[in-house]
Amino acid sequence: MDSALRQRLDALHADGVAFDATQTDRLLTRRNLEPASARLLWSLTQIIGARDAVEIGTSNGYSAIWLADALTLTGGHLTSVDVEIQPDAERNLAPFANVSLVEADGGAYLAGRADASVDLLFLDAERTQYPGWWPHPRRVLRPGGLIAIDNVLSHPGEVAGFLALLAAEPSLRGETIEIGKGLHLAWFAR
Ligand SMILES: C[S@@+](CC[C@H](N)C(=O)[O-])C[C@H]1O[C@@H](n2cnc3c(N)ncnc32)[C@H](O)[C@@H]1O
Repeated sequence: MDSALRQRLDALHADGVAFDATQTDRLLTRRNLEPASARLLWSLTQIIGARDAVEIGTSNGYSAIWLADALTLTGGHLTSVDVEIQPDAERNLAPFANVSLVEADGGAYLAGRADASVDLLFLDAERTQYPGWWPHPRRVLRPGGLIAIDNVLSHPGEVAGFLALLAAEPSLRGETIEIGKGLHLAWFAR
């Protein structure tokens, strides 16, 4: 990654941590992805050669910038979905021509996507809602694609139901990576 962009991302993350510390309402916080997890997703996006990536949970666009930069290198596109697109997200992502911001519920958005149309699906929204989105996270995934779910070690109880759905899917393999707040990856069995 370009060092100027990396410095901008580090500053944005530090700003988010400082901002979140001043908030008492969790829903008003930015809750940006941990930098190490973002960097892993950045690498994975390129390793799988993702062309069509979807993020559910934009916040101010921190993780979306990482994904957008990786997708610039693969010739891909990011759709980042949030129930409320923040002006900060629009501003932070304005330099990236390969990003679409969609204001929608993540489950409703996935329900409207075609079968096997997504290479990378990153879930970083309200975790307890994910099981209600089934089967769409699996249905929209293209063979060779990857699902990533954050916060699986910080909030195991909230993701247990969704991880059980993934584990019960014979076509998928999965692994939790002990990075950041815990990133679970699910991919197609070979
Ligand atoms: C943890 S933050 C996302 C952080 C972001 N990925 C980052 O690293 O910068 C969670 C976001 O999910 C959004 N969200 C909550 N429920 C949602 C839903 N059902 N569909 C889409 N977005 C949702 C919230 O508005 C919030 O902006």
